[in-house]
Amino acid sequence: QGKRESLYVLNKWAGRYFAEQLMGTDQGRSIGLSYFYERGYREETIRKFELGYSPENWTALVDSAKKEGHSTDFLLETGLAIEREDGSLYDRFRGRVIFPIHNLTGRVIGFGARTLKTDKKVPKYVNSPESDIYHKSNVLYGIHLAKRAIVDRDSCYLVEGYADVISCHQAGVENVVASSGTSLTTGQIKLISRFTRNVVILYDGDEAGIKASIRGTDMLLEEGMNVKVLLFPDGNDPDSYIQQHGSSSFRAYLDKNEEDFVFYKTRVLLGEAGPDPIKRSEVIREVVKSISLIPDEIKVSVYIQQCSGLLQIEERVLLTELNKMRLERA
Ligand code: UTP
Ligand code: MN
Ligand code: MN
Ligand code: MN
Ligand code: MN
Repeated sequence: QGKRESLYVLNKWAGRYFAEQLMGTDQGRSIGLSYFYERGYREETIRKFELGYSPENWTALVDSAKKEGHSTDFLLETGLAIEREDGSLYDRFRGRVIFPIHNLTGRVIGFGARTLKTDKKVPKYVNSPESDIYHKSNVLYGIHLAKRAIVDRDSCYLVEGYADVISCHQAGVENVVASSGTSLTTGQIKLISRFTRNVVILYDGDEAGIKASIRGTDMLLEEGMNVKVLLFPDGNDPDSYIQQHGSSSFRAYLDKNEEDFVFYKTRVLLGEAGPDPIKRSEVIREVVKSISLIPDEIKVSVYIQQCSGLLQIEERVLLTELNKMRLERA
């Protein structure tokens, strides 16, 4: 289709433009490239992910795009440009490092742009808006570079952010995609399920990450996925853990600490509940609720057995509760 193709063409051009700004200009090298080097990214990694830089200027991209004959309509539709009251255009991304977002086949469909300032008032990341080729809820960052490894390993690591995906690759872990901050969607899960049924959630080890991991677990289970979880200590995310401990410690940590969702969820919720018996019974209900979402009856019965041992509750009681929940949903 004509319009979508034009959007792809413009985004491809813009991706190259940002990369050229990063590698080929003084400002890009001294600000953007040195930022990436400080984060520990190697040059080959920067090229692999087609990272870029948008200059600190209101119209740098718009000016170049017009010179190249790109149309105003498409600049607005891709969100690369924003329109002022008077009809003039300015650049959405300014003075930021650029993470191009690709679809399954590796075409650029949008951009994430990180500020280099530490000022808490500016948003850390600015992203492309939705367009005819960019539907956030169906996108997983890094999928084009991960799909082969996901199939080979028959497993997919799910992280929160762009930086996590990139650092994982540098650490030799390539079967990894990011949900990019948004809470996990069914569309994203369906995309993963084309390559594997096994997902390991590696969200940030903070309050938000714990919440998102519990919610993500239930969504994944509903789609018939096998779910493991591992959160990093002290609020770390995969990227910061790799920076602190190095690649081989990271890989060892992954192998040693991933936990089946039923153990993870029970441990986290029981920890929050403490010794209070009412709260503990609420935890049991929560865990049974997750199990009740699993479409496969054999898995359900295995998990009920596990759970019975773990929580010291008779299987029969858990099954009654499980059936009640299914009836309530039906
Ligand atoms: P985080 O806040 O965990 O950022 O958001 P991060 O990736 O660890 O950032 P670094 O390491 O400081 O660079 C996780 C993801 O959520 C999305 C981005 O996709 C980010 O990678 N996000 C976050 C946004 O879209 N906008 C924001 O303002 C913040
Ligand atoms: Mn559409
Ligand atoms: Mn976070
Ligand atoms: Mn993070
Ligand atoms: Mn981070």
